[in-house]
Amino acid sequence: MSSVFNSPNPIFFGRGTSKLTGGKLKEFGCKKVLVIFDKGIKAAGIVDKILDNIKASGIETVLFDKVEPDPPDYIVNEAGALGLAEKVDGLVGIGGGSSMDTAKGARILLTFPAPINRYFGRGDAEPLDERNMKPVIVIPTTAGTGSEATPGGIITDTEKHVKWPIICSVSMAIIDPELTVGLPSGITASTGFDALCHAAEALTSKAHNRISEVLAKEAITLIARNLPVACREGSNIEAREGMSLAATLAGMSLRGPFGGIPHDIGTLLGARYGIPHGTAVGCLLAESMNFIAPVIADKVKIVAECMGAEVPANSTPEEIGIIARNTIRNFYKEVNMPKMKALIPDKQDMLQAEKLFKGTSFTPRALTREHAKEILENSYDAS
Ligand SMILES: [Fe+2]
Repeated sequence: MSSVFNSPNPIFFGRGTSKLTGGKLKEFGCKKVLVIFDKGIKAAGIVDKILDNIKASGIETVLFDKVEPDPPDYIVNEAGALGLAEKVDGLVGIGGGSSMDTAKGARILLTFPAPINRYFGRGDAEPLDERNMKPVIVIPTTAGTGSEATPGGIITDTEKHVKWPIICSVSMAIIDPELTVGLPSGITASTGFDALCHAAEALTSKAHNRISEVLAKEAITLIARNLPVACREGSNIEAREGMSLAATLAGMSLRGPFGGIPHDIGTLLGARYGIPHGTAVGCLLAESMNFIAPVIADKVKIVAECMGAEVPANSTPEEIGIIARNTIRNFYKEVNMPKMKALIPDKQDMLQAEKLFKGTSFTPRALTREHAKEILENSYDAS
């Protein structure tokens, strides 16, 4: 069986690599760059160090600190307009997925006409010609989204209240695990579960491929080993490094196979109840693996084994599903994931919300509305 895997952008990985930012911008020929981040990252002291590094390379900076979660279209438009007004010749996005996706959107608007809404969900349309775009470097400060290794972003259409994908690569990612050391335990767990879902969904997708599988297996193994430590001991740099690597590998593994049940339903769940993305998708992972095991047991077995489970050789697909489910349930406890009951007070509202089900495209087992309800209900009751 043939498959396609598109290699991502250049990635500089390792402790202290954020000190390369100014030099790399210089290599791109930048003289004035738009630096995009949120106020929280600035308050954590991460932005200033990188700004100093950029300025030390003789590059002027223009600051945009208005990034919001689930980046709204008007924020992206504002960032793009600022970049145009200031005539910047490059961009830097510092933060989690929201900052990186805002930077990707602003990058489009430095070359192509506003607003960003023009570029939502272009699907099969001719991709934008990136050769004329200004360079953008992204620097993740969480270990989860993987946006540093994917050519897309998600922007919220604030008029229609829906999230849309945009297609835009980055010129370079700089992944410095030291930047994640100060992340609180709750955000570490949530973003880490996002990465775990990316890898598990890629591995069990009906469009999975061999290259993606290698990346996903390593990502799951690294997460199982490092996420509990990173949650317990935030300054454990080995664990942080393992998580940064895992998140990027998991993001890369998604290239081609896309997502599965946790992202298809969890994204809608997160939007409806204001739950952080990683928590919303993560809380459905255990039941989702159990649901698909009857049709893709060999891959669900790999997920369980990478997480440290022992799966007896003669296990039936159903037994493999239960082992995977229980392994992931234990992992929730290890990293102190919030319970669904605490996040969604009204269970019946959740089960009756038709908007939580729009079908899935890469799930190996056909999913009906009744199945989706069952997954939601079992996830809720077990939490
Ligand atoms: Fe995600």
